[in-house]
Amino acid sequence: MDKLLITGGTALNGEIRISGAKNAALPILASTLLADGPVTVCNVPHLHDITTTMELLGNMGVHLVVDEKLNIEVNGPTIRDFVAPYELVKTMRASILVLGPLLARYGRAEVSLPGGCAIGSRPVNLHIEGLQAMGADIRVENGFIKARASRLKGARIRHEVVTVTGTENLMMAAALADGTTVIENAAREPEVVDLADCINALGGKVYGAGTETLTIEGVESLSGGRYCVLPDRIETGTYLVAAAITGGRVKLKDTNPVLLGVVLDKLIECGAKVETGPDWVSLDMQGRRPKAVDIYTAPFPDFPTDMQAQFVALNCIAEGRAEITETVFENRFMHVQELQRMGANIELHGRVATTTGVERLTAAPVMATDLRASASLVLAGLVAEGETVVDRIYHIDRGYEGIEEKLGQLGASIRRIPASHTDSASILSDVLP
Ligand code: UD1
Repeated sequence: MDKLLITGGTALNGEIRISGAKNAALPILASTLLADGPVTVCNVPHLHDITTTMELLGNMGVHLVVDEKLNIEVNGPTIRDFVAPYELVKTMRASILVLGPLLARYGRAEVSLPGGCAIGSRPVNLHIEGLQAMGADIRVENGFIKARASRLKGARIRHEVVTVTGTENLMMAAALADGTTVIENAAREPEVVDLADCINALGGKVYGAGTETLTIEGVESLSGGRYCVLPDRIETGTYLVAAAITGGRVKLKDTNPVLLGVVLDKLIECGAKVETGPDWVSLDMQGRRPKAVDIYTAPFPDFPTDMQAQFVALNCIAEGRAEITETVFENRFMHVQELQRMGANIELHGRVATTTGVERLTAAPVMATDLRASASLVLAGLVAEGETVVDRIYHIDRGYEGIEEKLGQLGASIRRIPASHTDSASILSDVLP
């Protein structure tokens, strides 16, 4: 298994380009299944989760053409199989996103149940109940969601909790349904808006994206077309924290600071000088130690759970004491134990982590447990005294395009140690249940 070796102590300095958003690219690639013609998706990040999605679509018989810029042309109507197998779903829960489009366009889908994951139980009941309300016949059998429908019918659906992929799945299903679907308490994340914009670019009628009520007028068909994925706000936020934690100064290009909202507010609160333009953001910590900030995660537009781990790392070396409260997932503090091994002072009580900043962290071998937890360990490594080895970085490769190249470009001392043949067996034992 690949590892990252980081020697801490360098203040980051420089400019890098931000990639397309993973969490928008995944539903947008799934939405191409709805279209009658080929759809070209551009600004797709080069990530494991994207490769998994391409494998998923390719296994179904979907014809994919990828050019050198990673623009992906997807030709959905060549599909001949309607199954998302366990082998792929277990490595990427977002595979569930093919359920809605397959059902709406082809009237059938079999998608493996994702099961639990490191950060919590993560049920998909709202995806299933929403599709049932639209007239789908759904059975859960042998670990699979087996769904059938003639044409789905518009319905009024209210989610008791805000779900991002749940909203996206139902939006895609409703795009080709007979009649109007209203989703109340819908997710308002920018990636949900991006998906709505993509569906509308193909001839769909989705209204209200970005508000808590989505109205989708079903259309008979969607056409092929071209759509560019929005920039990754979580990648942007992660590199801003990398600059803040090292007392450095960075400029991030090809991003959209408007999507960062409360994350930028928190960075300013911790003492950073933040400047923005239409497609860039810069952060200058002016060599100062950050001040610890309280964080309370909640669905957009509040503070994103996907930035929580990075701010825990920041608070670990910040001046003062702060509380980080995680409200979206029940078990999303896996990084805390690893950070404690690097000398962090963190008390964890249920969903609240209280940090008391220390002057410096010390390097240690640490283990990545999920995508954003892994990012927090890399950030900690950037300021730790000595050489930190982050193991199991396949989690990072799921969501950060070329992290060692980008951090290297900013002056960090970081390199990948490729897996040796001897430990390839341990990858399997880690992924298998
Ligand atoms: C998406 C993001 C992930 C982010 C998360 C929250 C993608 C591919 N992933 O994950 O990066 O951390 O949003 O912003 O976009 N829930 C239910 N029933 C359901 C569905 C969800 O109870 O049917 C609960 C979950 O257990 C969780 C909460 O709703 O407590 C939010 O989860 P959800 O928004 O669905 O997360 P994902 O869409 O899986």
